[in-house]
Amino acid sequence: MTRITVTVDGVTYEEEVEPRLLLVHLLRERLGKTGTPIGCDTSNCGACTVMLDGTSVKSCSVLAVQADEGDVLTVEGLAGGGGWHPMQRAFHEEHALQCGYCTPGMIMAAIDLLKDDPDPSDEAIRHGLEGNLCRCTGYCNIVRAVRRGAAEMSGHQEVTAS
Ligand code: FES
Ligand code: FES
Repeated sequence: MTRITVTVDGVTYEEEVEPRLLLVHLLRERLGKTGTPIGCDTSNCGACTVMLDGTSVKSCSVLAVQADEGDVLTVEGLAGGGGWHPMQRAFHEEHALQCGYCTPGMIMAAIDLLKDDPDPSDEAIRHGLEGNLCRCTGYCNIVRAVRRGAAEMSGHQEVTAS
């Protein structure tokens, strides 16, 4: 067992973990962060995407020990005192989900995408989210939601149908 210290959604935890424990299992089973789902467990679907030290990672492909001394943000830590994060609100308002299973990972990946490209084209959004699979929506509303979230995050009021 290895002792790690990890901050998740602003709370610091000390945990004894097996070296083989995956970050997603630490989050869900030890810390109760069930807002981060497991879709495939083979790093294909992106459902388990979280931020680790400010960069999106598929938490089923990261060992918990790799997050030692790290700062993890899950979808559960996004909402602030003022309510939902703009990207959460955009997904809600654009009806960018059906079953919702992919949504936490989509939102985290979308926010990461905007770090490098705050005003992405539809093509850039589709390219940036290609590691995140949705079996329900056909992606059109997801792209619209990311555009809307991007506009809100940059303080602009731009929402147009594609
Ligand atoms: S559960 Fe991690 S990528 Fe699918
Ligand atoms: S909304 Fe069901 S998988 Fe995306």
